[in-house]
Amino acid sequence: MPFEDTSCPIPMKEFATSTTEHRKTISLPPECFWDPVFYRFELDAVWGRDWFCAGRATDIPNPGDYYTITAGQEPLLIVRQRDGSVRVLANVCQHRGQLLLTGNGNVPQIRCPMHSWTYDLSGGLTFAPGFEEDPTFGAPDICLPEIRSEVWEGFLFVTFDKAVAGIGKRLAKLKRQLANYRLSGLRSPAPLEFVRHDWNWKIYADECYHCTYLHARSFGSMFPVPPSAIDEECEYNDADNGIMAYTLIGRHLDASPTRTGKSLHPILPDLTETQRSRIAYITVAPNLLIVAMPDKVKYWVWLPAGPTASYLGVTNTFPEAVLGDPKFEEHARMEAEDLRTTAEEDLEGWKRYQLGIGSRFAPRGRLSGFEKTLGRLQDWLVAHYRAAESG
Ligand SMILES: [Fe+2]
Repeated sequence: MPFEDTSCPIPMKEFATSTTEHRKTISLPPECFWDPVFYRFELDAVWGRDWFCAGRATDIPNPGDYYTITAGQEPLLIVRQRDGSVRVLANVCQHRGQLLLTGNGNVPQIRCPMHSWTYDLSGGLTFAPGFEEDPTFGAPDICLPEIRSEVWEGFLFVTFDKAVAGIGKRLAKLKRQLANYRLSGLRSPAPLEFVRHDWNWKIYADECYHCTYLHARSFGSMFPVPPSAIDEECEYNDADNGIMAYTLIGRHLDASPTRTGKSLHPILPDLTETQRSRIAYITVAPNLLIVAMPDKVKYWVWLPAGPTASYLGVTNTFPEAVLGDPKFEEHARMEAEDLRTTAEEDLEGWKRYQLGIGSRFAPRGRLSGFEKTLGRLQDWLVAHYRAAESG
């Protein structure tokens, strides 16, 4: 990582009160949400040293299918190989550093538009015009650097760290707990789309304190969320492995935030009655939110794009048979329409957070008893800050 030597501009002792060890847990220092030096520190401490989610490998089923993301300053290319595996490559031409591919699609090979340097799907350089006769040019040694990756239940995880333990190990218990959702077989109707926003990536941190208030007339009118319906001590919580979660307890089986109050799509066939009466919001730190619902699994992925900029992708996944259902499009449209106001309220809320947090009067306020996921996430973040700062 390019920022390895950046040390934290905020003294480590400042973070102690933002952990749950401190009984009166307060939010992170406001600078964590805008300071460019802290941002560079965090790019290394969090994004350079642990796994993060980079979308779903199920979005690229065929050889040559690809999509691109940018995590901090690292443009990455995720491409399905001819042998069926997935590789994550630096999306940077090894000639003079130009960005190679954009968006998503299918390619037989990876070609730089600037000077036509061409790589095979595994990243090996196969063609560089003008160097055919040059014995000093070492084409066989030139390739797009590969970044370590692992597919877990269809989700693609990436790390720049060669030593950190595998993500499969970290998420083994969660895999067992979510077995009935058959995650690895779920597909989205279209590849995930990332939208750039003008706020720090940590602002997406999930909690349901705001559900009862910000979403009272939208989400709350379709799926009532009195504080008693929020179970912050649910079984998915696994602090040691960076998993923080709560469940919403529905008033009836297959309850869902739609205008009918019921799930619109066919119910996932293997769920228990308890699973059918819950919506589980499971954060896998630092950047994946899995929302396990009776008829689908929704997920959110966010990536840093600058001290006050980020990318967000949100989509739903379903069993393949449901995607082919003649009613699918209609139900998906109704559902999106029903949740439109809730989504707009969240965007407005996140925007206001960034607008306020830069103020000289921005506080480090107390976290409420309904923001336990946030406290647990802060524990995870502070542990990473401390580990990076101590070398
Ligand atoms: Fe919300």
